[in-house]
Amino acid sequence: MMDEENSHGEKIYIFDTTLRDGEQSPGATMNMQEKFRLAQQLVRLRVDVIEAGFPIASVGDFDCVKNIADNIRDVQITALARANRKDIDTAWAALKNGDNPRIHTFLATSDIHLEYKLKMDRDQVLELAVASVKQAAKYTSNVEFSAEDASRSDLDFVCRVFEAVIKAGATTVNFPDTTGYAVPDEFGRQIRYLMEHIPNIDKAVLSVHCHNDLGLAVANSLAALQAGARQVESTVNGIGERAGNTAMEELVMVLRTRSDQLPFYTDVVTEHIYPSSKMVSTITGMTVQPNKAIVGANAFAHESGIHQDGILKERTTYEIMNPCDIGLSSGSLILGKHSGRHAIKDRIQAMGYDGLSDEELNSVFVRFKELADVKKDMVDEDLEAIIMDEVLRVPEVYQLLSLGAMSGNKTMPTAAVRLLVHGKEVKDASIGVGAIDGTFKTIAQLTGTKSRLLYFAVSSITGGTDAQGEVMVRLECDGKIVIGQGADPDIVTAAAKAYLNGLNRVAYLQAEKEK
Ligand code: KIV
Ligand code: ZN
Repeated sequence: MMDEENSHGEKIYIFDTTLRDGEQSPGATMNMQEKFRLAQQLVRLRVDVIEAGFPIASVGDFDCVKNIADNIRDVQITALARANRKDIDTAWAALKNGDNPRIHTFLATSDIHLEYKLKMDRDQVLELAVASVKQAAKYTSNVEFSAEDASRSDLDFVCRVFEAVIKAGATTVNFPDTTGYAVPDEFGRQIRYLMEHIPNIDKAVLSVHCHNDLGLAVANSLAALQAGARQVESTVNGIGERAGNTAMEELVMVLRTRSDQLPFYTDVVTEHIYPSSKMVSTITGMTVQPNKAIVGANAFAHESGIHQDGILKERTTYEIMNPCDIGLSSGSLILGKHSGRHAIKDRIQAMGYDGLSDEELNSVFVRFKELADVKKDMVDEDLEAIIMDEVLRVPEVYQLLSLGAMSGNKTMPTAAVRLLVHGKEVKDASIGVGAIDGTFKTIAQLTGTKSRLLYFAVSSITGGTDAQGEVMVRLECDGKIVIGQGADPDIVTAAAKAYLNGLNRVAYLQAEKEK
């Protein structure tokens, strides 16, 4: 069904579940504003379907899905629902104003899940799956059914279930490798079996959803495509439950780079891959490992002299992809302190961050100028850090006005901090084990907050002693775990900004909850 073909082969539908399965990564919760921002980025990326959340899970999740369905166009929005009336009604209530909204309902089919989790027999599961799809189909003609733990299920039973749910109105049937157990050859054979044994499979799109527990999610997804699947469920940076899901950027770039072997294409605008990856890691605080394929910091770095020499002579000697194709700029010198607003706006757009409002562009411009005054060479990474820092900032109930810190090996580390707290100026100073400890203590006193610092990391955005430092913290505050980020040429200031960013996120979550 819906096969589209062009000279590159058949179209593969990209179903993005960064906002749902991705958010199930430990510690990766995103607030409403961040989810909306990311959904806008996914539209720019031109994925086909955005799974915006699991509305029955919480009021917050419901509101996030509704906000996205109500306001985002030109992409199918879906939401997850277990196979029961309440979940499906709730999913629909959140989705109903969407553009071609899809209800995604799921039920396990493996004997392990039937016996221990559902305590149902196969006939009951079949009946419930059909009833749920019929109920969803009353609301929309765009219904997806997932057979949870399908890869460990009896295949003939999955065939029976898929045949029945397609008759009941499912237009996509999804075969998840929920536990990341499958290996590519086997997974491909399973998909081929479904293609050959479900009489009405031509009436639906066969989809796969792979987890990465054995590091095989992308390989399994590719094997499934070769066997007949036409939708892949994936996430940006491969984030997701446990070891994550199929990494969208890897799958898409394999299809693009090896179209000689794999006659498929996606509609993904690959030049938006890098900015999307950066946005996801900034929002979730889940940094990308340097050697990660496609978007890792080293993915296009050439260390050995022989390789560097080869690249200088002819890029393709050691590069199978052009970094520009994923939206990576050369990292070369860009603008300086005399650059105008227009030039900076053009550069931001050329880097793939083209959804910024005038107000956001203005604050990025001001920060850029401030940094250019103290930093000699401004490169794309500097601008990128400012964009992430400014644009993904939550409303600030705590704002840094000034910071003076003293440290050294023969002195008592002290920090004096001035803040705006709910619009009122407050100031204090503390002694700490080091300047950062003193700063955090003072901020805690001034804001009246109690939080536990779970994680602290500092990195340098570019080389050089005048480089911006980027600090990431993870805080536990009022039972919530949040991340906080800050960038500044002064590391203690970057740390203060990150800490305040975390506290502002807690306040924002609290305000969202009260609303
Ligand atoms: O991993 C899984 O099985 C899922 C389903 C809900 C699609 O996430
Ligand atoms: Zn999953």
